[in-house]
Amino acid sequence: ASADRISAIKSSLRVIPNFPKPGIMFQDITTLLLDPKVFKDTVDLFVERYKNENISVVAGIEARGFLFGPSIALAIGAKFVPLRKPKKLPGEVISEKYILEYGSDCLEMHLGAVKSGDRALIVDDLIATGGTVCAAMNLLERAGAEVVECACVIEVPKLKGRERLKSCGVPLYALVES
Ligand code: PRP
Repeated sequence: ASADRISAIKSSLRVIPNFPKPGIMFQDITTLLLDPKVFKDTVDLFVERYKNENISVVAGIEARGFLFGPSIALAIGAKFVPLRKPKKLPGEVISEKYILEYGSDCLEMHLGAVKSGDRALIVDDLIATGGTVCAAMNLLERAGAEVVECACVIEVPKLKGRERLKSCGVPLYALVES
């Protein structure tokens, strides 16, 4: 049952206090990746949800969205597009700046990777304030895609990312809360 799989996923995660800075509770998914059954269940839960949604593009957010996004894309028959930190992509890009809990950053996407009419799923490990996902959504919409949903392993409800996404019109699906 999916409830059992979700509780195994939750048990496989760990939280490291004061990393990378004092006051930050780091949500570590690397321990989930160490258990092949739990890792597969994580991907499968997303695949079951999206396989019949006509998703044509899975957009993964650097860095940890790259750990889950490609497996989901392959299983549902969608292309995978990496949304990268600045100056990593070699081709012509569009970029979106965003504010983080600590500082600001920017995401870039190759021009032409996403086409008008594409149906997009955004994938990341974690949604905190939602700033990163909003930047991802802006990139995809600027390229003419319809963003169907954002899928994350972990949601941090106290940081209100879900509300922020709602205000940009993107539904959020998260497997666990922390
Ligand atoms: C983390 C996480 C998400 C983002 C969530 O990545 O993997 O991408 O923060 O935060 P938000 O909802 O408040 O925007 P980080 O920026 O640490 O980058 P990294 O994965 O490259 O280390």
